[in-house]
Amino acid sequence: MAALSFPVHAGEVEVLHYWTSGGEAASLKVLQKMMSEEGHSWTDFAVAGGGGETAMTVLKSRVISGNPPSSSMIAGPEIQNWGELDVLANMDEVAKAGKWNALLPENIADIHKYEGHYVAVPVNVHRINWMWINKAILDEVNGGKVPTDWDGFFAFMDNATKAGYIGFSHGGQDWQDATVFEQIALGTGGTQWYQKAFIELDQDALKSDEMTQAFERFKKLKSYMDSGMPGRDWNLATAQIIEGKAAVQIMGDWAKGEFTAAGKVPGEDYVCAAVPGTTDSFTFNVDAFMMFNNQSKDNIDAQKTLAKLLLSKDFQEEFNLRKGSIPVRPDVSLERFDSCAKLSMSDFKAASINKTLMPSFSHAMAMQPEVSGAVYDAVTNFFNNNEQTAEQATEKLASAIASAL
Ligand code: GAL
Repeated sequence: MAALSFPVHAGEVEVLHYWTSGGEAASLKVLQKMMSEEGHSWTDFAVAGGGGETAMTVLKSRVISGNPPSSSMIAGPEIQNWGELDVLANMDEVAKAGKWNALLPENIADIHKYEGHYVAVPVNVHRINWMWINKAILDEVNGGKVPTDWDGFFAFMDNATKAGYIGFSHGGQDWQDATVFEQIALGTGGTQWYQKAFIELDQDALKSDEMTQAFERFKKLKSYMDSGMPGRDWNLATAQIIEGKAAVQIMGDWAKGEFTAAGKVPGEDYVCAAVPGTTDSFTFNVDAFMMFNNQSKDNIDAQKTLAKLLLSKDFQEEFNLRKGSIPVRPDVSLERFDSCAKLSMSDFKAASINKTLMPSFSHAMAMQPEVSGAVYDAVTNFFNNNEQTAEQATEKLASAIASAL
């Protein structure tokens, strides 16, 4: 039952986000409904474009022009850049009342603080090293066997293609290219190598044979994609799995939100499984919301209510059920969550203990934007350039990162 207490004065929040797919919109609706039940009004400022690159560009232009939204989506180290600009509302009062320090894993809490003060509210944990497999195709062409290594993966691709299906469903956009490449790289080099290459940006690791092999696998994967791939939005690639046109998509578990919105059931309609070579690791990103300084007391009240709701147990359950992610609060019961979410949570806890929990560079958790932008460019240029060899791509990626630092 939502809170029926109405504030002394109703305020308004304008929220900048990029959650425009079916599953994303369904999850955001939970928040809009809860804000309305608290008596505040919501102005939606949606900036379409998966991965949020466009949204972040629009946010910067709004803030520079002195017209920030009340709140905006954000993720990862970029929060520190916003903190430095001294434009963010301090949320310590709400954090103290909600006992966020006791609630949140320390490493996640710290990402959302600037100089020790909360300036952003985390809402979930997305796992990115997932394959989303159409179950009927898997049963028909692969005897129901989920590939656990790369030879088995490409054999599955061959079987699906021979049977007339699209083997691999993809959207040719830079962030999607980077997302898929990240998981192939993790599954090729392993977590210790990933840590050195993409977190420490160690040039020897970046120029290694593992990176070249990852690029070779990435290019091989392209041969299993369909002609409609260039520019396709991620959720339309997910739709090809849902509709039984394609066998596999590699994507973060926001893709699960599309299966959920379509009424599909894991284990029956589709299978979620770790990308080959990544079963014991977990690439993650955490979506969050920043609140911008505001002059109106009523609107500040509305921002405080928004922050409180985002980490409330009720929202954490209802939102993540629809978003495909797991709650960022470990104390939320997963009883109503499906088998993929339960696997994600148990793998998240194991990866935290085993130090195989890897921040995603393709989703803003591991690098500053100018560095991840250089990675996006190097990966996408290789993907689109049929002349460039995997060795050349390895060299170009390492030098692109070195010059972006
Ligand atoms: C990610 C974001 C997800 C989802 C996805 C596709 O960066 O964390 O919540 O929006 O992009 O747009």
